[in-house]
Amino acid sequence: MERQQILNFLETKVSKKRYQHCLGVEQTAVSLAPRYNVDPQLASVAALLHDVCREYDPDLLLQLASKFDILIDDIARAEPILLHGAVGARIVKEELGIEDNQILEAITYHITGAPNLCALSNLIFIADYIEPGRTFEQAKLLRAEAFGLEPEELLLRVFNNTLHYVIDRHYLIHPNTIAGRNELIMKGYHQNNG
Ligand SMILES: [Fe+2]
Ligand SMILES: [Fe+2]
Repeated sequence: MERQQILNFLETKVSKKRYQHCLGVEQTAVSLAPRYNVDPQLASVAALLHDVCREYDPDLLLQLASKFDILIDDIARAEPILLHGAVGARIVKEELGIEDNQILEAITYHITGAPNLCALSNLIFIADYIEPGRTFEQAKLLRAEAFGLEPEELLLRVFNNTLHYVIDRHYLIHPNTIAGRNELIMKGYHQNNG
């Protein structure tokens, strides 16, 4: 699918600010793609579309999730915004005819991360956190280091930062984030500093 077609579609789904965020995620994901052995074209499509349902109302997300037979766990029930990944994946499948499983997985899990994801999914999870529009201190620090870190170490840092972030704000912690981090620790990866 042509990039311009995707941009036209995205424009109908999100605000200008979110559109810019998606371009930022695309830029970051495409530039990191070779380090993750990911096809830059897949990275571009997944990045542009990851937040396609981010501005849907919580009620609509719940309604679409049940229509699409998406599992609504207790956490998603309490925080329906967490469904914008899984619902977004279904929407791009239905409305754009995107069938690529890696792209659909990346969109589904970009919010929480998860264990055993494909490289594209991990890349989008990371790029969403460090894209140039993220101006908070932790994102700035990680962005500056991103190209100097091993892919797994960068991923671990995004998991760690995400957990700190949700704890500091008293948000619910999704078990996928914990399981994704645990997988890396069990494989022997650890954060060297920072
Ligand atoms: Fe998102
Ligand atoms: Fe995002």
